[in-house]
Amino acid sequence: MRNYYIAGNWKMHKTRSEAADLARALVSSLKDGKHKYLVAPSFTALETVGALVKGTNIRLGAQNMAAEEQGAHTGEVSVLQLKDLGVQTVILGHSERRHVYKEDDALINRKVKLALKHGLEAILCIGELLEEREAGKAEQVCETQTVKGLEGVAASDLANIVIAYEPVWAIGTGKTATPEDADAIHAYVRKVVGKLYGADAAEKIIIQYGGSVKPENASLLMAKENIDGALVGGAALKAETFVPIALFA
Ligand code: PGA
Repeated sequence: MRNYYIAGNWKMHKTRSEAADLARALVSSLKDGKHKYLVAPSFTALETVGALVKGTNIRLGAQNMAAEEQGAHTGEVSVLQLKDLGVQTVILGHSERRHVYKEDDALINRKVKLALKHGLEAILCIGELLEEREAGKAEQVCETQTVKGLEGVAASDLANIVIAYEPVWAIGTGKTATPEDADAIHAYVRKVVGKLYGADAAEKIIIQYGGSVKPENASLLMAKENIDGALVGGAALKAETFVPIALFA
């Protein structure tokens, strides 16, 4: 049985004090929650939020990471610096990184391998653009991003990999993929993982859905066989909307 994993991606929102308020509210509201939880604040709030979630059932995540361990990379943040702050998980290949900041599969793959090398869990985001979906290429795009993202990742490291399927046209738009459409891609990606790592690995891998997840649609999505959790953006910014998603029945 796969455990549900609900993650909040706070993107470029919240000062430290705002982040602390939200983290405090989540720690108290989710303390009896049965699923796996994560919050990913901005780099600037990692230390503040990390101190509040330490020792709780909420993991600390970062939203990105450099592909190099250290060095002359102005404006980047390294895996060593994240680990120093107690970060346990890093979101990689988010569609905003791919499409706004032009990160490609090869760069994302280097980040994935570096995160794993340092014992971090990596959430590898994949997902097609609207025009790719309309051209019937959603499966192909997700397969390529999965295969290239995981290139060179050992089977023994797969337990530290989570995949997040986030159709780009559903992110921040209020448009959610139907649970059936999302489940179909999840099933396909699970098959791709099976081809790469075998049936047991495919059965075990956690595949989150992301893209306008809200309290109203969370349980419908999560009821689908291949949807194992959610990566939540907009609705993760307030306890009133994230908590009901995180505690979905
Ligand atoms: P959204 O963002 O929930 O606001 O659509 C999801 C994400 O980008 O991870």
